[in-house]
Amino acid sequence: MEELLADGGVIRKLWIADADQYREHLLRLDGESRRNRFGGTIADDVVIAYADGSLRAGAVLHGFVVDGILRGVAELRPLGGPLSRQAEAAFSIEKPWQSHGVGSALLERTLLAARNRGIKLVHMACLADNTRMQELARKFEAELSFDFGGVVGEVEAPHPTPLSIFRELVADGHSFATAVLDAQSRLLRPE
Ligand SMILES: CC(C)(COP(=O)(O)OP(=O)(O)OC[C@H]1O[C@@H](n2cnc3c(N)ncnc32)[C@H](O)[C@@H]1OP(=O)(O)O)[C@@H](O)C(=O)NCCC(=O)NCCS
Repeated sequence: MEELLADGGVIRKLWIADADQYREHLLRLDGESRRNRFGGTIADDVVIAYADGSLRAGAVLHGFVVDGILRGVAELRPLGGPLSRQAEAAFSIEKPWQSHGVGSALLERTLLAARNRGIKLVHMACLADNTRMQELARKFEAELSFDFGGVVGEVEAPHPTPLSIFRELVADGHSFATAVLDAQSRLLRPE
């Protein structure tokens, strides 16, 4: 179920214990990627405050991990109350790992998570000149509908099914096993 991605990286869900790794990942983004991720130029202390609060309950984060280091993240963050059934998705991939299919894999997992949580609309905040993000979203056009309207893309997630829930459970199980191996290999590695 879980495929190996660029440079042997894997995708797994992130938890509160990953907050430090998330902060470091966001701070490593180059200027252009940071601007695209946050929709404008923001200072380090704002990035730090954002990362520290981002793994709160309700948000679903998937990470792309290479050799134990977080190199990409997709966030799915509920918008409005529980009845709104809307969420915002945001992506950040460090430059050396961009254009290797990581964003596509993260979006696929994010949409599966959205579907299984009954989310009907996923807004993708995206600057108008961010063609790569728009191309990425369009790859899912066959099963989902988009209306970028300049800056925001909306994805209509279909209903959850027993199979879609099973797919998420299987993906998480495999990712968890991979994460444990990853942690063990870091413990065994000489400093
Ligand atoms: C935007 C982003 C998430 C895309 O992820 P990615 O891993 O680089 O994208 P992928 O390799 O999966 O490519 C997705 C599609 O984008 C297009 N694409 C890839 N590289 C491209 C490039 N250099 N220029 C234009 N389009 C490109 C292709 O259509 C590609 O699909 P294909 O490989 O099937 O042809 C990633 O580049 C990123 O994090 N950028 C910085 C932050 C950002 O822009 N976030 C989005 C706003 S929240």
